[in-house]
Amino acid sequence: MVKVVVLGAAGGIGQPLALLLKANPLVTELGLYDIVNTPGVAADLSHIATPAKVVGYLPPDEGLKKVLTGADVVVIPAGIPRKPGMTRDDLFKINAGIVRDLATGIAITAPKAFVLVISNPVNSTVPIVAEVFKKHGVFDPKKIFGVTTLDVVRASTFVSEILGDLGKAPSISVPVVGGHSGVTIVPLLSQSTVPLPSGFAKSDLEALVNRIQYGGDEVVKAKDGAGSATLSMAYAGAEFAAKVIKAIKGEKGIVAPTFVNLASDKASGDALKKEIGQDLEYFSAPVELGPEGVVFINPLGKLTDYEKTLVQAALPELAISIEKGVSFIGSSK
Ligand code: NAI
Repeated sequence: MVKVVVLGAAGGIGQPLALLLKANPLVTELGLYDIVNTPGVAADLSHIATPAKVVGYLPPDEGLKKVLTGADVVVIPAGIPRKPGMTRDDLFKINAGIVRDLATGIAITAPKAFVLVISNPVNSTVPIVAEVFKKHGVFDPKKIFGVTTLDVVRASTFVSEILGDLGKAPSISVPVVGGHSGVTIVPLLSQSTVPLPSGFAKSDLEALVNRIQYGGDEVVKAKDGAGSATLSMAYAGAEFAAKVIKAIKGEKGIVAPTFVNLASDKASGDALKKEIGQDLEYFSAPVELGPEGVVFINPLGKLTDYEKTLVQAALPELAISIEKGVSFIGSSK
């Protein structure tokens, strides 16, 4: 039995994500929560002939508490998305408070659930969830994840486009490490499972890295004020959630890229800190998952000189964003 809850379930990401989770045969209950429209979304999805029982709640009558009761996995896409000209950090003012309040609900009602944070800025909202859990004495670093899967999905797609064969996209895997915004997104293209064409020029490589780092801006621009990535994010979020669910059910060898607390597995976390040369509290990397959460954080491995530069360029912004999330809870009631 696996109960998955989506907080922000009526939104641009929330609805297609809920659809994909309803289609996952391993999900036996799907709880939907938003400040608007969840009864309608739940009624609609409940007619789909798959195992998950769907329930939808709004804030009145302790809706958050009801939806979270018995949750094994909680996915959070609640919050405002970017408009043209905005960075993910510009969302902090509003989304930090939303994530804090939802995290408080999880800490009280479902403290043992896996928490998958989609709401931006992920580099700060993940520390916010962790700090709220610490305040409530229920912090388990193994179970709090920032969803960075979309960066990995984009990297696979863009590499397959360069190879002129979209059919290859599903088999292309590129580790994307660091964090989830701008320069903190570091694709390790030298480790792509399908290599780039031989003789791929340095300038083309730099353009590809830039496209992966700022791929979200292409969508924000094309949507022209109507939001940011929703459908590709729902796909990526469902993919990550599916891996988490498989790990919970005991499947071995599940590895997923995600932004985690480096104390979640002390030995591998410390080794990664050594690799990057900085004592950061959070970093995103391919992580092995088990029934209790993080099992092992994969090392970055062999990097090119260019990739080493990219990792170093990510560190200052990452440190600032992490600290911003931590001190938000330190300073908020
Ligand atoms: P949206 O505006 O379409 O949907 C957000 C939903 O959250 C709305 O239905 C809203 O009613 C709900 N909401 C607001 N406050 C809430 C609260 N206190 N409790 C419950 N629900 C609440 O936005 P969209 O496009 O779905 O994006 C959501 C978030 O996901 C944004 O922060 C966006 O930046 C982020 N995002 C993250 C990505 C990633 O790779 N991690 C990629 C794309 C977007």
